[in-house]
Amino acid sequence: MAGQQRVAVLGLGGMGRAMAGNILRAGLPTVVWNRSPDPARQLGEQGAEVADSPADAVRRADVVVTMVTDADAVVSIATDRGMLAAMPDGAIWAQMSTIGVAATEDLARLVAGQRPGVVLVDAPVAGSRGPAAQRKLVVLASGPDEIRDRVAPVFDAVGQRTVWVGPTGAGSRVKLANNLLLAFINEGIAESLALGRALGLDRAAVLGAMQGSPLVSSWAAEKLERIGRDDYSPQYTLSLALKDVNLALREVDVDRFPVAGSLATEWQRAVDRGLGAEDLTVVTRALEENLGA
Ligand SMILES: NC(=O)c1ccc[n+]([C@@H]2O[C@H](COP(=O)([O-])OP(=O)(O)OC[C@H]3O[C@@H](n4cnc5c(N)ncnc54)[C@H](OP(=O)(O)O)[C@@H]3O)[C@@H](O)[C@H]2O)c1
Repeated sequence: MAGQQRVAVLGLGGMGRAMAGNILRAGLPTVVWNRSPDPARQLGEQGAEVADSPADAVRRADVVVTMVTDADAVVSIATDRGMLAAMPDGAIWAQMSTIGVAATEDLARLVAGQRPGVVLVDAPVAGSRGPAAQRKLVVLASGPDEIRDRVAPVFDAVGQRTVWVGPTGAGSRVKLANNLLLAFINEGIAESLALGRALGLDRAAVLGAMQGSPLVSSWAAEKLERIGRDDYSPQYTLSLALKDVNLALREVDVDRFPVAGSLATEWQRAVDRGLGAEDLTVVTRALEENLGA
């Protein structure tokens, strides 16, 4: 194993678990940690080293991947649970959770102030649980040019493509733009199907007419197929999708983005009705059944 990057993956939810599995299968020595122990234990059975704490996981790591829910979780791992202090000098921290612009800039200041020997790479991903499992993510990477080669084996292990988009923070900006498009496509599907229902049409008839349409991307086609089966099991939860729209709106004058603003209000109502843990396509059901979305 000499000469290979030693990788620590912190956060083994729907995305992190699949990514850690692919890093392991790529032959990189991999240490894993998760707040609740079961996902780490499962990866341990596949050959990963299981750490008891973030600090233990990163002590000898060349590259540390964080993949958790939001900025609070990232900061809690990095500071309260000792990750940042325990990282070796020269190690790379690939922060791959979607946490937005302000929090990424806060992290950059934290690293510069407390651990200037650590290199922060802001690298959220496009693609959901399915693409994560199939190693088809797109890594939206940003950070110093000189570490690209060192982090490439890890990004190549989790994704089909890495796009370097600029200095640290640019990756998070691109990610928010990407996810706003995704939110609108999801909302377009939901409103279109709900309109069909309101016009007295059978949902299957509307779905059938959309099949093969140039308006329907491969992402949308897969979502429509799942909606057709009333399958709202989470690929990308409504709560996470709403988090990302709100992260975008936080950075801009909301009056300039009124449609995104009302989409966020509508989705918040659906989350308040208990639909946040379902796939974001559950907005379709909420609108069709007038569940308050
Ligand atoms: N799902 C997607 O389609 C998708 C696509 C691209 C990007 N993302 C982004 O990737 C990130 C992870 O998404 P996911 O789908 O993997 O989410 P998920 O399945 O809900 O997993 C969340 C992970 O975060 C951990 N976590 C939450 N709060 C924590 C805390 N305070 N301290 C330590 N660990 C904590 C959870 O640990 P426990 O297991 O202990 O709860 C779990 O490992 C999010 O930022 C999301 O926006 C998701």
